Amino acid sequence: MNFQIIGTGSSHPACSKTNDDLAKLVETSDEWITTRTGIKSRYVSTGETLTDLACEAAEHALENAATAAQELDLIICATIRGDYFTPSLACIVQQKIGASCPAFDINAACPGFIYALDVAAGYFARKTVKKVLIVAAEMMTKMVDWNDRSTCVLFGDGAGATVLAEGDSLLSIKLTAQGGTDLLNIPNVNGNSPFCDCPKNDPYLFMNGPEVYKFAVAAMERDVKEVVEMAGLTLEDISYVLPHQANLRIIDTGRKKLKIPKEKVLVNIEQHGNISSACIPTLLDELNRKSFFKRGDILALCAFGGGLTTGACILKW
Ligand code: UT7
Repeated sequence: MNFQIIGTGSSHPACSKTNDDLAKLVETSDEWITTRTGIKSRYVSTGETLTDLACEAAEHALENAATAAQELDLIICATIRGDYFTPSLACIVQQKIGASCPAFDINAACPGFIYALDVAAGYFARKTVKKVLIVAAEMMTKMVDWNDRSTCVLFGDGAGATVLAEGDSLLSIKLTAQGGTDLLNIPNVNGNSPFCDCPKNDPYLFMNGPEVYKFAVAAMERDVKEVVEMAGLTLEDISYVLPHQANLRIIDTGRKKLKIPKEKVLVNIEQHGNISSACIPTLLDELNRKSFFKRGDILALCAFGGGLTTGACILKW
């Protein structure tokens, strides 16, 4: 016994900025961003808080699941950084949507949604929950350095949510972590302790793009193969792959290594860019709302990012 997804939701800020808009801020071009990443535009907060996005995605998912907030037994938010260090984003969402269950955040960067599914699966296995809300929400545009063209063009803001109920959809799941700060990090801000001689640091995202690129391609191939095998399936059984939307070239190279046809690999990177943990649940919601998936479809989810972490799973829709 684990879970099935009974509702999805998503949310993004109202304002979308194109590559040409960013070319007015840093030395870049639509041509460079499109050919190197596949991104054409991304949503950026001009005032919406992460809480606003998370709550809107949560409410859409609850509505889609025909579930009242009071029915929830657990809320898990995946986020790199909530609006507050404490309360957690999940506690704030719990209050705003009118739920009364336990709530906590997890930070596993881009694979955060898949990490949250694994945590939720444990609660379902212990039979201590019947309905769980997962919200993956990220405000990446407040963590990148807008003077650094190598990172600021890649990311966007948004939130994706799912409501889980008892079921047998999760056929396999795999998480990995290869800890280290050298390839990807976002430093915390130093406080104002009079006792610490801490150097002033820039609290902005740092990424060694080419190295993370290699890690990501290898992870996609390895993890999808592993979860398919764990589920007792073959790569041909996959109906659709929902990969983390970091770079269209990573997705395409990974899919070629897996020999999966292009039409089976789902993307929305063109309009959203990289919204970290919110990528996969947002993609899931956009397609679910179009009734894209058929009952019984085999979905392979895979993500990689800061940590470095990876996560992949097979879901039967
Ligand atoms: O979600 C977390 C996981 N993140 C990822 O998976 C991201 C993985 N990495 C990537 O997707 C790619 O490495 C990037 C898109 C970040 C960069 O693409 P790249 O093909 O690896 O480019 P690069 O970093 O090797 O840079 C190539 C050139 C450099 O110029 P020189 O040294 O060749 O003269 C950069 O300075 O492109 C330059 N460049 C830019 N040029 C125009 C870097 N950013 C830009 C830019 N516009 N925005």
